[in-house]
Amino acid sequence: MIGASISRWTMSYFATALAWLFVALALMVAGVGYPSAHLASPDTLVLVHVVCIGWLSVAMCGALFQFVPVLVAKPLFSEKWALPALGLLTAGLAVLLAGFLGLGGRLPAWLWLLPMGAILLIAGFGLVVVDLGLTAWLRPRGPARFVLVGLVSLCATAAFGAVFAFAHAGWAGSAGQSMLASGVPLHAIAGLGGWLTLTAMGVSYRLLSMFMLSPDVDERKSNMTLAAGTLAIGAAVVGGVLAIWLVSGLNVVLPAVGALGLAAIVLYGRDVIGIFGGRKRRQLELNTRMAVLSFVSLAGAALLGVVLVLTGAFAAYLGTFAFLSIFGWLSGLVLAKLYKIVAFLTWLETYGPVMGRTPTPRVQDLVSEARASKWFVIYYVAVWFGTLMLLAGQPSAFRAAAAMMTVGLVGIVREVIRARRLADVASPLRLPDGACAPHLLCARG
Ligand code: HEM
Repeated sequence: MIGASISRWTMSYFATALAWLFVALALMVAGVGYPSAHLASPDTLVLVHVVCIGWLSVAMCGALFQFVPVLVAKPLFSEKWALPALGLLTAGLAVLLAGFLGLGGRLPAWLWLLPMGAILLIAGFGLVVVDLGLTAWLRPRGPARFVLVGLVSLCATAAFGAVFAFAHAGWAGSAGQSMLASGVPLHAIAGLGGWLTLTAMGVSYRLLSMFMLSPDVDERKSNMTLAAGTLAIGAAVVGGVLAIWLVSGLNVVLPAVGALGLAAIVLYGRDVIGIFGGRKRRQLELNTRMAVLSFVSLAGAALLGVVLVLTGAFAAYLGTFAFLSIFGWLSGLVLAKLYKIVAFLTWLETYGPVMGRTPTPRVQDLVSEARASKWFVIYYVAVWFGTLMLLAGQPSAFRAAAAMMTVGLVGIVREVIRARRLADVASPLRLPDGACAPHLLCARG
């Protein structure tokens, strides 16, 4: 990534995303939404979208503004769109949440807020998709293909979400009502499976190879993984809409999606093991060790899913499965990589301009892995404890797990801010002549 330009607003995306993650954890600690309320309740919808849009989608967009140009070795189509997109996403999410709160009677029932939020979100995601899509399209190979499929899935997710939002306001006719009645699983699969998981898989191939000095994953193998994932999402979106239209129910579609999704996860596991096997860096950095815990969580979620399906208990424990996937796999991976990306970009921004002219610290000098590791361990242990408490039907103990996750997160964020502030770099090397301290929330233009 050395030599690549630094995305100006990636840090602002990360800061916004982390702020939403704190909101989500505060809701969970306070007992708002699942498991204290039903999965389909308006309070759960608030919680789900704070996590899925505010935290995960915003963090992913911020990371992609930096990485897609690196993946395709071309500049971003338009750097200028990133900030307006963040504004639209933030405003859209706030309005959508107000609509959900109205649906649950916590605010006046102004249901027009839901379509209004959807329009703002579509405008924000639209800017992101066009910007990143036009950039990734220039060299659609390897991980960039995962990103392209992820972006198409994001469009499908937003389209389903908009139909639901218009249907809640009574503006989507009978077709919209039947989509709202049966299509929610399709929206969730396209968002969590297609957009977030496939994109995270694609980006992880490149990051793991880069940080472990491994050869890139064999393209034939990663194409096979992508094909299984794309078929799963395609079956969910196309097959699912068709099944709803034909009023035949989702009983055939969902098992097929599950089997294809499982195949994609197994193939991804094979690819990741291959990257680890080919690494030249024997001593693993913290971000990679913590990414391993997120892979363990993904494998755990897949296993849990299979056991629940075989015992006929999937519907009853859907929330537990979603919790482990969202907080163990996706959030764990994003936090681990964010920790490294912030240090790396801060190093590049501060010392890149003076490199070769004066002694500079190494990227690892910006962080204290020994101090940071305990916060990550607290976070993951809390997530796994929370999963067990959901399985055991113990909502109070689950709130304690959410509080423990918050403690871990506070520690991780403190370490990230210290890296951004160069707080762990010893004085003579910290700011050599010609180097400037970076701004906390954005890169210099
Ligand atoms: C344009 C953006 C979006 C809009 C307008 C939107 C809107 C909605 C609406 C109205 C529902 C409720 C349906 C019902 O009443 O049962 C819903 C459910 C859901 N959405 Fe979204 N959504 C958006 C983006 C996303 C994204 C990006 C994700 C995930 C990555 C996501 C994940 C979910 C999930 C998991 C549910 C089911 C929640 C539950 O039943 O508890 N949404 N969405």
